[in-house]
Amino acid sequence: MSAIIAQLDEKRRLARLGGGEKRIDAQHAKGKLTARERIELLFDEGSFEEWDMFVEHRCSDFGMAEQKVPGDGVVTGYGLINGRPMFVFSQDFTVFGGSLSESHAKKILKIMEKAVQVGAPVIGLNDSGGARIQEGVNSLAGYADVFLQNVLASGVVPQISMVMGPCAGGAVYSPAITDFIFMVKDSSYMFVTGPDVVKTVTHETVTHEQLGGAMTHAARSGVADGVFENDVDALLQLRRLMDFLPLSNREKPPVVPCVDPLDREDLSLDTLVPENPNKPYDMKELITKIVDEGDFFEIGEHFAKNILCGFARMEGSTVGIIANQPMVLAGCLDIGSSRKAARFVRFCDCFNIPILTFVDVPGFLPGTDQEYGGIIKHGAKLLFAYAEATVPKVTVITRKAYGGAYDVMSSKHVRGDVNFAWPTAEIAVMGAKGAVEIIFRQDIGDKAKIAARTKEYEERFANPFRAANLGFIDDVILPHTTRGRICRSLAMLKTKDIKNPWKKHANIPL
Ligand code: HXC
Repeated sequence: MSAIIAQLDEKRRLARLGGGEKRIDAQHAKGKLTARERIELLFDEGSFEEWDMFVEHRCSDFGMAEQKVPGDGVVTGYGLINGRPMFVFSQDFTVFGGSLSESHAKKILKIMEKAVQVGAPVIGLNDSGGARIQEGVNSLAGYADVFLQNVLASGVVPQISMVMGPCAGGAVYSPAITDFIFMVKDSSYMFVTGPDVVKTVTHETVTHEQLGGAMTHAARSGVADGVFENDVDALLQLRRLMDFLPLSNREKPPVVPCVDPLDREDLSLDTLVPENPNKPYDMKELITKIVDEGDFFEIGEHFAKNILCGFARMEGSTVGIIANQPMVLAGCLDIGSSRKAARFVRFCDCFNIPILTFVDVPGFLPGTDQEYGGIIKHGAKLLFAYAEATVPKVTVITRKAYGGAYDVMSSKHVRGDVNFAWPTAEIAVMGAKGAVEIIFRQDIGDKAKIAARTKEYEERFANPFRAANLGFIDDVILPHTTRGRICRSLAMLKTKDIKNPWKKHANIPL
């Protein structure tokens, strides 16, 4: 018996060595942790249960029959994050560059299928050279099987991709289907075709980093929802994110003990909105002053900064926050911000996370760039997402809520449940100046007349009372009481139950 145990120990030792000491050292030299070190940091100490440690590939071409490494380049299993179960696959770059073989794909599929059955998130730690070149179409089939499972799991369990090394070619499409993609600065990149192919086809010279580095995707393409400084930072932040999320669509979001008083008032909010309506203020300050203990996990921080998205808690329960940011493009909605917020709203709706919206929006951004880029369709994504969402929706208009953007931003008309306005709110078709220049065009030369008309328009519409008269706003609230009013609304909405008409699925404007 002891000989058998020793044999097992030896087999495990070899499996844990992956591609061997030299390749582990090379991984470390790049500032990267190994697949197993990453898992250790991700999960509560000693909680990881590994599966399929002894799985090997079945390829015999190109001398592969003599090159078998137990585990075949991916470590899979499940563990706990602050006591809650999550599944993981962590690609091992030291084994055939973490490339995906048929067996490697099967290991990933096994944990994904079990995650859907038990209702637990799937975390992918991606670090791979792509399709296992020696396996040809078997590897492509493996990828497609993973894509399919990603799609089937979408909206059932949260799927998170942490890109911690290369991710190129068709391999990018698994992360792309998941709910959030995060990347690690300087050590990760994602692209469909690499710099060499780009050079050949378009004659552009571009580095890996410029083409598909973490900041490229976080700030320019919007493919990445966040970037982290290094592996350790990434994994610790991932633990923080997972604490906000329910384990599946069958669950309500988690509730943590809350020491922040429900009715905590913040008098500084009464002076946050400047007297001059054209002066910006920081919406992030508002968010952190209102949510539990100022804890806000931002999603898409570097992309479309004119809208803020992220998770926070109110009275210990997770909420998804969407807020126009007046500091950037005056908080206008444009293509990027509509796409970013629409996807976030849909994530929250999939996973029963109430949506809290802060509105200060002067409208949609004008311009040929926007029109030619399809702002009509992209703006419609956000409208669609808000309208179809059935989770509790609480909205606070702090200042401008103009035009179509007023309708879009979780207004009463798209089934906002509780809609508050601060006394500084201006709810109108457009700003007073623009409105007067259109409806009193004949008086444009008469400065006094125009000033009088502008004042009249402001008095009538540059306030929340017209909308409140009509019941489109449930109450005009003092800014310093905002936290308490939201908490009570969310508590009341806990048992909200509405259903959309039966359909196979909706047809969101993509
Ligand atoms: C098999 C691979 C591999 C792959 C890397 N390796 N990629 N083995 N299949 N796809 C192996 C290398 O042979 C090497 O083995 C080890 O992994 C480390 O690779 P290096 O090249 O030494 O590392 P590095 O210099 O860091 O470069 C990493 C890399 C490069 C940029 C990822 O390896 C590379 O370009 N690989 C090929 C990428 C690629 O073209 N993949 C196919 C993409 S198409 P040894 O034994 O020396 O340690 C694709 C289609 C998916 O993925 C389609 C889905 C539908």
